[in-house]
Amino acid sequence: MPLASVRSMSARALPALLLAASLPLQAQITPPQLDVPYVPTPEPVVARMLEMADVQPEDYVIDLGSGDGRIAIAAVRDFDARQALGVDLNPVRVSEAVENAERAGVTDRVTFEEGDLFEKDISDATVLTMYLLPRVNLQLRPVILDTLEPGTRVVSHAFSMDEWEPDDTDVVSNSYIYLWIVPAKVDGDWQISTPEGDFSVSLMQQFQMVEGVAEGLEPGIVKGRLNGTQIEFTLDDRHYVGTVNGDSIEPVSMEGAVANWSARRN
Ligand SMILES: C[S@@+](CC[C@H](N)C(=O)[O-])C[C@H]1O[C@@H](n2cnc3c(N)ncnc32)[C@H](O)[C@@H]1O
Repeated sequence: MPLASVRSMSARALPALLLAASLPLQAQITPPQLDVPYVPTPEPVVARMLEMADVQPEDYVIDLGSGDGRIAIAAVRDFDARQALGVDLNPVRVSEAVENAERAGVTDRVTFEEGDLFEKDISDATVLTMYLLPRVNLQLRPVILDTLEPGTRVVSHAFSMDEWEPDDTDVVSNSYIYLWIVPAKVDGDWQISTPEGDFSVSLMQQFQMVEGVAEGLEPGIVKGRLNGTQIEFTLDDRHYVGTVNGDSIEPVSMEGAVANWSARRN
């Protein structure tokens, strides 16, 4: 509107006009509703998180709620990860992260996306990093357990996942770090074959912990644990170590462990 027309308007109409003119701009700068406020992870904690996750050149690292991009950038720059992705709902953070990746010279291997972490398909991640909140971790827990491949490493700065006990923890600069290895799924009835004979075992799984009973053995109690696809359990005072592959388990040769056994899920 030309200035002359504004001048000719009554004093009463002017505030309404100013409000209308300012609305689109205000809408643009209104920050999105965040589930977690922005607090950057201190650099020594970033380094330890990636070290605990044992990031390797073949890894694809996703940082959910990536802030200024420091975890994703460090994953490729300092740990040589193949690729990293950061997802953040706040466009200001995404711009900062892109600038930081440019400065670090890693834009060929790091991408930042503006989006909601709850809507992101994370199933390709081999390492997942998070600095979120307990409630958000718990909301993500079933997604992590159901969509990530067994063996995927999940690292969280500061917050746990309640009953899902971490596989490793550390404290750096007064910050807790938790590591979980996504366990294979072994619930169900299995037929175990050994040179001494076959027996049926029902396994019940609670995250990475496994319990069960073997039919016809006294006491027949199975106690075990998963580390990704690797399962170890004791049964009848004997130690079994194997690799879970869908509905079968193949033995891993290890001193003190039973050899020549295998298992199939019914
Ligand atoms: C505590 S900061 C962590 C930043 C970075 N990962 C780090 O450790 O330095 C949490 C980040 O999550 C982002 N965030 C909050 N809610 C989100 C959501 N629903 N989807 C994606 N990002 C979100 C915030 O913008 C913020 O940058």
